[in-house]
Amino acid sequence: MHDKQIEKLIKAEEKRQKGVINLIPSENYVSKDVLTALGSIFDNKYAEGYPYARYYAGQKYTDELETLCQKRALKLFKLKEDLWHANVQPLSGSPANLAVYLALVPKGGKIMGLPLSSGGHLTHGQKVSITGKMWEQLPINLNPKTELIDYEKMKEDAIREKPVVIVVGFTAYPRFVDFKKCREIADASGAFLMVDMSHFAGLVAGGVYPSPFEYADVVTTTTHKTLRGPRSAIIFSRKDKKSGDKDISVLIDKAVFPGLQGGPHLGQVAGVAVALKEDNTPAFKKYAKQIVKNAKALAGELSELGWRIVSGGTDSHLILVDTWMNGKGIPGKEAEAKLEKAGIICNKNTIPGETRSPFDPSGIRIGTPAETTRGKKEKDMILIARKINSTLRGK
Ligand SMILES: Cc1ncc(COP(=O)(O)O)c(C=O)c1O
Repeated sequence: MHDKQIEKLIKAEEKRQKGVINLIPSENYVSKDVLTALGSIFDNKYAEGYPYARYYAGQKYTDELETLCQKRALKLFKLKEDLWHANVQPLSGSPANLAVYLALVPKGGKIMGLPLSSGGHLTHGQKVSITGKMWEQLPINLNPKTELIDYEKMKEDAIREKPVVIVVGFTAYPRFVDFKKCREIADASGAFLMVDMSHFAGLVAGGVYPSPFEYADVVTTTTHKTLRGPRSAIIFSRKDKKSGDKDISVLIDKAVFPGLQGGPHLGQVAGVAVALKEDNTPAFKKYAKQIVKNAKALAGELSELGWRIVSGGTDSHLILVDTWMNGKGIPGKEAEAKLEKAGIICNKNTIPGETRSPFDPSGIRIGTPAETTRGKKEKDMILIARKINSTLRGK
């Protein structure tokens, strides 16, 4: 590499990544093939529009690439091409979610979603996000005792407030979501059901988390978390679903381009296509199973060691640890800093019913996808839990 300054930073970051235990549940390590495709000459090409309907010439191979990526996306989740459409152009998860709302929700309409403090993402209608400025969030509440989604209350609120879209998905909710119940609530209130499976898409692909496709009208996902691809996103939409007299998949395509974006990042599309093929293998299924086994082992040992695990455990790849425990433990910010010093990377996080501030909340969020990619098993998780415990207790 000629640019020595950047080369030095790449090498330093590589060393940092190799030298730490990475428990950030939304990060992962992609394969060399994904990186090769991502950094390929496809990045040189402009391809505004969609396959076989572009605004520039020279699209022989880009059309083939994008179509292949779409086919692989549908195949991975066992979706029929006549029923589902996949848009692989969103540049990341946030613009993917924004595009869906732009397509379906009139300005000022309601989006029902989990607030940040209950494990939702900024783009589920949070006030600081454009999704909470253009539209109004109707919160999905958790039951304070169980720390699980309160589906009864969700139904009552949805029927009364009539959201246009109900978005279920999370960045910090460790349990299964009952998609069947969410469908019933969407039907009872006349809303579209959108599932943001960004965090758990790889687990769905591996058959260890319930699939939302039987129930949802739209499914969005990032590709760089449990799917182990490059930073990007996919929007799946049902071809038979309409908004007014228009097909929602057509409206969503238009919202992505030209509504929100210009040309797709074709290096990303190539990298996503590679990852989707890798995800459709027995080895990946085994990997997905191991992610969950590892998370359960990590949560179990931390609990044994006296830490309170939000909702009492996990069904997935992520765990919320209440490190503060009403003043009996340590705040999340201090926990995050202490762990980083000890070579364990995680993030501070609010917990349901948070009594502190988002900048110094009561807990930390940890997860197992990255370390599972590196070959760690349950016995390693026990050791990591013990290291977390001794670091936080200063022993
Ligand atoms: C559930 C969920 N949706 C959307 C996003 C946004 O993805 P991005 O950071 O790629 O914009 C995230 C990112 O953490 C997420 O967890």
